[in-house]
Amino acid sequence: MFNLKNKTAIVTGSARGIGQSIAVELARHGADVVVTDIIPGQQTVKKIKALKRNSFFVKTDISKKQEIENLIKETIKKFKKIDILVNNAGIFITEPTKKVSEESWDKTIDINLKGYFLCSQTALKYMKKGSSIINISSVAGILGYAQAAAYCASKGGTRLLTKSLAAEYGPLGIRINSIHPGIIETAMTKNLLADKKTREASLAKLPLKRTGKPIDIAGAAVFLASDASSYMTGTETVIDGGWTCTL
Ligand SMILES: NC(=O)c1ccc[n+]([C@@H]2O[C@H](COP(=O)([O-])OP(=O)(O)OC[C@H]3O[C@@H](n4cnc5c(N)ncnc54)[C@H](O)[C@@H]3O)[C@@H](O)[C@H]2O)c1
Repeated sequence: MFNLKNKTAIVTGSARGIGQSIAVELARHGADVVVTDIIPGQQTVKKIKALKRNSFFVKTDISKKQEIENLIKETIKKFKKIDILVNNAGIFITEPTKKVSEESWDKTIDINLKGYFLCSQTALKYMKKGSSIINISSVAGILGYAQAAAYCASKGGTRLLTKSLAAEYGPLGIRINSIHPGIIETAMTKNLLADKKTREASLAKLPLKRTGKPIDIAGAAVFLASDASSYMTGTETVIDGGWTCTL
């Protein structure tokens, strides 16, 4: 059990999937959590309140600076401080490079990379010594997936955004780390894994012989948010069922 009592957290993209699981697990360990997403997040708020922690929802498109500023303003108004920011909201578009439109490229980069930067930049104005930012990147931030140029560029960018911010904010006692999930069963991978051939090929690559669940990611986020990881910054935690261990 990690101690996040009296900590306040923001988790982007926490209406469902990995973000929801992280938000709920942070609350289970004592944190009050701001749920934020472009889709309704009341279900996550309800789960957190059932754990007797404080929570509210703020609709935010993380590719829009003004909406991020509103999210941070609301957080400070209600919770007075920000101890933990989990940059999790993201999109995955797979398409052959020759079909990638400028609009599609910009959308992925605006959400998956610029959004992480803007949320961090705005939250950091209020974050103090002992705070922690966790960026949800991907194995696609380490390896190249075919037909996912923008996604891989955004996730690789997030990996080094993490290290750059860690170098800058380490002296202030603020830690920034990234998590790199492999294949996790969420709405994002539903269609991909519904295809029998793709599922079998995916499982064949995994030494643990199973796909991941959002809870498999949430534990690491709780650890990175807590003082148990107080000497870790700029690191990359890979959670992929062993996918990359033999590469
Ligand atoms: N599922 C996987 O296999 C996997 C693997 C590696 C990394 N990831 C990363 O994990 C994170 C969470 O993904 P997930 O699998 O839970 O997918 P998901 O689609 O279930 O959740 C993503 C959430 O982000 C929200 N979102 C999308 N665009 C947004 C925007 N502009 N502003 C605010 N919120 C927005 C969605 O509404 C959704 O609730 C993503 O960053 C994803 O790239 C997922």
